[in-house]
Amino acid sequence: MSYQGYAADLGDGEVAALLFEYMPKIAAEHKMDSLLVLMADLGRKIVQADRCSLWLIDEERNELWTKVAHGVSELRIPLSAGFVGYSLKTGEPVLVEDAYRDSRFDRRSDIKNGYHTTSVMTMPLESDDRVMGVFQAINKIGDNVFFSKKDLERLKLISVYSAKTIESAIRAEKLERYAKQLERKAEELESAHMELIRILGEVSEFRSQEVGDHIHRVSEISKMLARYYGLSDEQQSMIYYASLLHDLGKVGIPDMVLKKEGRLTESEYSQMKSHSVIGRTLLRDSKTDLLCMAADIAGAHHERWNGTGYPDRLKGEEIPLSARICSVADVLDALACPRCYKTAWSEASVKEEMKKSRGTHFQPELVDILMDHWDEFFSCYKPNGAFVKNGLLPPVSE
Ligand SMILES: [Fe+2]
Ligand SMILES: [Fe+2]
Repeated sequence: MSYQGYAADLGDGEVAALLFEYMPKIAAEHKMDSLLVLMADLGRKIVQADRCSLWLIDEERNELWTKVAHGVSELRIPLSAGFVGYSLKTGEPVLVEDAYRDSRFDRRSDIKNGYHTTSVMTMPLESDDRVMGVFQAINKIGDNVFFSKKDLERLKLISVYSAKTIESAIRAEKLERYAKQLERKAEELESAHMELIRILGEVSEFRSQEVGDHIHRVSEISKMLARYYGLSDEQQSMIYYASLLHDLGKVGIPDMVLKKEGRLTESEYSQMKSHSVIGRTLLRDSKTDLLCMAADIAGAHHERWNGTGYPDRLKGEEIPLSARICSVADVLDALACPRCYKTAWSEASVKEEMKKSRGTHFQPELVDILMDHWDEFFSCYKPNGAFVKNGLLPPVSE
């Protein structure tokens, strides 16, 4: 048997031209199955084979798999099948003229595909001292009948190049999978975090006997104010969640004060006011930006723009913006909804009161935003308003 001396192989220049044609396409391709198709195509042209395929080990399924054409689903064979299995096991190439006269040949795929294999070359794909797959060329075409040693050398060249490419593609795929897992975990953590904040907010609401879903409406309105104020989506979302905790400190107020119907005595009132300091104290040691903002809101949502609020009599921009925003939403909701000590105000009176508080209780710009978009802000207090759709509308008298 001789493997050399056949004419009409591609010249080195033609091989180089093919490599230059394929290299940019291969470098730009990141999907493994498309890479396999591209490299098999390159191999087929360089060694002039009728068929070429690049088999890779699937360690999870203990199989070899390949993709031979776009749109055709992948092919799979056992690790030990035929010449490919031989090369995989021994790390040796195979070069045969007539497959049917070689005991290593597995004729099942010919039978299955109605094909007739004659000449075959296989070359292990090695990377970092391990065999990761096998490059296989079947049936020489053109003037020659068999593959030559030169073809085998060229198959080796393409195999080395392919192994490196595949290695980096596998690494990139692993990294991508890992990044996706991390992203999923981060999302899970984030939603657990938000869920806990919501539950904490609801606990404080439950304790303080607020009328249905006060904190949710305050959060929605705060977010809307933040949007019109020009804050980023991320800040709007932080304000939403942080506002859920604005009255967290009420968990520290005794029931006899919190649930008292009628007027509070002076000492009860100062006890009640301490909820802002309690809330801030509970939240202020947090390392997350969100809970730090929640601490700002809890501690300063009863401050007033003109410095007459509590607990620190902060004035103007000394009051954190998030707390200035939440304070508008909190008062709007308190006026528009009934409480145990009062009925809900009419829309006109609420609007009038908010307008009157511009520059005294509230930052002027925030009241301007509220007035400019009044119908939108007040829609949640109307039958069929936004909160009705979410089942969150409180009992409100018109
Ligand atoms: Fe409060
Ligand atoms: Fe509140």
